[in-house]
Amino acid sequence: MAPIARSGIDVTPLRESNLPIIFVLGGPGSGKGTQCAKIVEKYGYTHLSSGDLLREEVASGTERGKQLVEIMQRGELVSLEVVLDLLKEAMLSKLASSKGFLIDGYPREVAQGIQFEEEISPCTMVIYFDVSDLVMMDRLKNRGLTSGRVDDNEETIRKRLETFHNHSLPVVEHYGAKCIKISGENDPEEIFLKVSEALQTIS
Ligand code: AP5
Repeated sequence: MAPIARSGIDVTPLRESNLPIIFVLGGPGSGKGTQCAKIVEKYGYTHLSSGDLLREEVASGTERGKQLVEIMQRGELVSLEVVLDLLKEAMLSKLASSKGFLIDGYPREVAQGIQFEEEISPCTMVIYFDVSDLVMMDRLKNRGLTSGRVDDNEETIRKRLETFHNHSLPVVEHYGAKCIKISGENDPEEIFLKVSEALQTIS
């Protein structure tokens, strides 16, 4: 497969804005999107989901999108540069009206975090939702009945879980004390209370 083209993006305005940047981590179906919606409602941060940005790129029918869909159907990680460029473009486009960025599903591997922080700026906080594989599998199989997502089927969910364990869990260790671990198996409102406690420390 031909390498996916990168776009040259000037992120100086992002770097100079000094807005808070919160990474939201967790396995597939751990509730990242659900909690991010609540955070946006209460704190007004700009929510950017790396998965949503990739699905928008696929839907736009570009050459880059065509290459991405096959990777996502296999439950593997898209190349680091592609995700970072999509994030930069989205962050810049929302910068003027943003109070801070909530970056959902990123970084998925330690190298993504390192490159983001080198090219843009250090993150302010990392939130990680801890959920067992069994619960994540059940949630996603259930969501797959209606979601229409190409990756919400049992075979791809298994692969997504494997990718999460091999590549994404080490990110939690990488961020150490900067990473707030929250159990994601309770009721969404109870989880959000813990999320709010964490966010009060930077608001
Ligand atoms: P992405 O879209 O990020 O998918 P994911 O990480 O697998 O997570 P989901 O969006 O499926 O779940 P979620 O944690 O947001 O949970 P949700 O709130 O929806 O990524 C898709 C693919 O894109 C990846 O596999 C990869 O190929 C690629 N990709 C994405 N980012 C990338 C990156 N940075 N680098 C490289 N590749 C990347 O909840 C799930 C379900 O559970 C819902 O039905 C919800 O109602 C329910 N639920 C939520 N919370 C609770 C609760 N507390 N109790 C009961 N049910 C709950």
